[in-house]
Amino acid sequence: MSPRILFVDHSGALGGAELFLLDLARPYADTSTVVTFEPGRFTEQLEAHGLPHRILESGAALQRVRKSGTWMQGLRALPALARTAHAVAQQARSYDVIFANSQKALLPAAWAAQRTGTPLIWMVHDLLTPEHFGWMQRQLVTRIANASAALVAVNSRATARAFAKGGGTGPVIEIPNGLDPAPFDRACQKDPLALRTAFDLTHDAPVLGVFSRLAEWKGQHVLLEALHDLPTAHALIVGEAAFPGDEPYAERLRTQAAHPALRGRVHFAGHRSDIPELMAACTIVVHTSTAAEPFGRMVAEGLLAERPVVATEAGGVPEIIRPQHSGLLVPPGDATALATACQSLLDDPDWAAALARTGAAHVRTGYGLERMHAQFEDALRRVTLRTYVNA
Ligand code: UDP
Ligand code: GLC
Repeated sequence: MSPRILFVDHSGALGGAELFLLDLARPYADTSTVVTFEPGRFTEQLEAHGLPHRILESGAALQRVRKSGTWMQGLRALPALARTAHAVAQQARSYDVIFANSQKALLPAAWAAQRTGTPLIWMVHDLLTPEHFGWMQRQLVTRIANASAALVAVNSRATARAFAKGGGTGPVIEIPNGLDPAPFDRACQKDPLALRTAFDLTHDAPVLGVFSRLAEWKGQHVLLEALHDLPTAHALIVGEAAFPGDEPYAERLRTQAAHPALRGRVHFAGHRSDIPELMAACTIVVHTSTAAEPFGRMVAEGLLAERPVVATEAGGVPEIIRPQHSGLLVPPGDATALATACQSLLDDPDWAAALARTGAAHVRTGYGLERMHAQFEDALRRVTLRTYVNA
């Protein structure tokens, strides 16, 4: 028997948390529904994957409350929050479990769980630390989770530690992102030169690729700074400013790329859905987040594409990469260290290939889809006290 799960995610945009949910929810498509608060690339993907979904328009007002938002903004969103909570509660009556996949989804989902007695799992994709969120927001979500969640799921040990340190008391289960290696295997069989030609890259130019939405803390500017110390290298910047408020940063990156020393060496690819192919065409995959990354799908994906990866040493990333063994780690925001690490890989391609192979093997065994689904089944068992045979 398959559980009926009401998945709730505020976002219509396709971030890592939504990519996680696409894979997590797929085996439950026959009995479950995904609720979002706005349309976007995520809802298009839900449609493409045949996952039943609903858009709760009343939730759109919650979208306008920003991380750095004021009390006033929060108060103005209250009527919309109440309408959304009511709508989620009405839906929840027909489901066995509510799964809230974001902080903004937690608020209405918690209310619906209380009203209907449906067990709630809250999936934490963020590091609830002062580096990322204000005191008010951390207090609010932690208290709501403590009061309402039957189980808190986290995407890394770092996320679990931050939740506990911030006062989270509930039981916690780890469900790291599970990734399908098949598209990466296929991409590795393709001719990388064809992709390089599409970006006007000569076949011997070292290409350093970063695969992230454009946002200040994702640190694409650090790669552009590092490029000054790597005179033959090119940067492939894949991703768009996906969330409101990030456009000025994208504009700053374009200005930074126009520096005469970088001219012709920075390639903006925009949002892409052929990530495995693009990664396979890179010499090195670079992760540049200047604040601690909660998990970092692009780090695990770079390894699956069998590329040497240089990533920043903070948050969940050191759980994926063992430095000098399966990749290299550098301090966040340190362009000189990033350039030095990339140069050492370019100088020793055999060593770089060995790191990439070890990293790929580690991600295959540690971050498979089956493992993620087994961990989710465990979570479902714990909150419903029933055993489901599914994924
Ligand atoms: N990604 C994508 N297209 C792009 C840029 C990024 O599909 O143009 C994907 C990337 O492959 C990764 C995800 O977006 O799977 C980003 O997840 P990550 O955990 O690295 O960071 P997040 O944006 O969730 O904080
Ligand atoms: C969030 C985090 C990212 C993580 C993703 C999926 O977007 O910022 O680090 O990989 O969720 O769990």
